[in-house]
Amino acid sequence: MTHVNRQWLINGNPRGRALSLDDFTLHDAELARLGPGQVRVKVEYLGFDPSQKGQMENIAGYSRGAAAGDVMGARGIGEVVESHDPNVTVGAKVAGMVGWQEYADLDARAVEVLADDDLLLAHLGPLGGTGLTAYFGLLRIGKPEPGDVVVVTGAAGAVGSVTGQIARIAGCRTVGIAGGSEKCAWLVDEVGYDAAIDYKNDDIKARLKALCPEGINVFFDNVGGEALNAALTRIAPFARVVICGGISRYEQETLPPGPANYFNIVFRQATMQGFLLSGYEREYPEARRRLTEWIRSGELVYKEDIQEGFDNIPTTLLRLFSGKNFGKQLLKL
Ligand SMILES: NC(=O)c1ccc[n+]([C@@H]2O[C@H](COP(=O)([O-])OP(=O)(O)OC[C@H]3O[C@@H](n4cnc5c(N)ncnc54)[C@H](OP(=O)(O)O)[C@@H]3O)[C@@H](O)[C@H]2O)c1
Repeated sequence: MTHVNRQWLINGNPRGRALSLDDFTLHDAELARLGPGQVRVKVEYLGFDPSQKGQMENIAGYSRGAAAGDVMGARGIGEVVESHDPNVTVGAKVAGMVGWQEYADLDARAVEVLADDDLLLAHLGPLGGTGLTAYFGLLRIGKPEPGDVVVVTGAAGAVGSVTGQIARIAGCRTVGIAGGSEKCAWLVDEVGYDAAIDYKNDDIKARLKALCPEGINVFFDNVGGEALNAALTRIAPFARVVICGGISRYEQETLPPGPANYFNIVFRQATMQGFLLSGYEREYPEARRRLTEWIRSGELVYKEDIQEGFDNIPTTLLRLFSGKNFGKQLLKL
């Protein structure tokens, strides 16, 4: 068995700028002896999320204080190759915060043993943080009612594509905003959005006016910026504006003033609320049960974008910020 563990370490803080490949550096570490209660996981798949940039930025009250020299944090799936815990057997497939490395030595209590079936990778997507974010953000903060018009930005992304489908299942009319005709066609033809707006080529404001003549009841925002400004002009009375993310702002040095048109929140007696998935941990099992049912019944579809190779890990994270990913961004080591 090899004693070397290849790792990608954090090498820079990208706050106020775009991520760069220089923000990561390769390192060969020695595999240490496992302690009691620990398991060694051979990492097989990594999941990618825009919040990983935020984790590197040490934002007070949000990120856990990652520092230069730390193994880059990430959730992933792998196989247990050594176990010092009776509850986790060698050969088990597990999910956990494995990080960007070939082997992760983890506390057995911090890994989740998974069934090795056709939904294994879904635990990094619709049954993982992605699906749970869509579920709690939409149902708890957006509070959709049958007949509501729900507009979602980043709609072809991992969170956004699940959000639109949960809204449809809740009996809503859905409009997705995404970049490019291919993603927009996928939203309508396969995901089941009622309509899509291509923010790179369409006039968002004009299209929202045409598609939502009675206004927007729930606006689920992953992007911020111009799309948020445009949506705020069209919110219906008592609308719920859910701030899930703001990826258009994640690489900017100087943040723009705004949002513009926010005073419509007053005129329409609307609410605008942010949320973090971490607040709902106790309710994950019930949410996962429902998400699994929807996947099994064919009501919820999802797409995976699987890159390959340990060397390509940093490049794969950068894909999220240019919209190169089409579906949940994963990488097979
Ligand atoms: N609140 C929470 O607890 C929580 C938890 C998880 C994720 N989130 C947030 O959810 C959002 C989506 O995350 P995800 O993991 O599902 O990623 P994702 O949507 O699969 O990937 C990111 C997408 O953002 C779009 N994008 C990138 N730069 C953009 C820009 N400047 N303007 C407009 N769109 C841009 C791209 O799609 P296009 O090709 O369509 O541009 C890209 O594919 C992020 O904002 C993330 O921070 C929040």
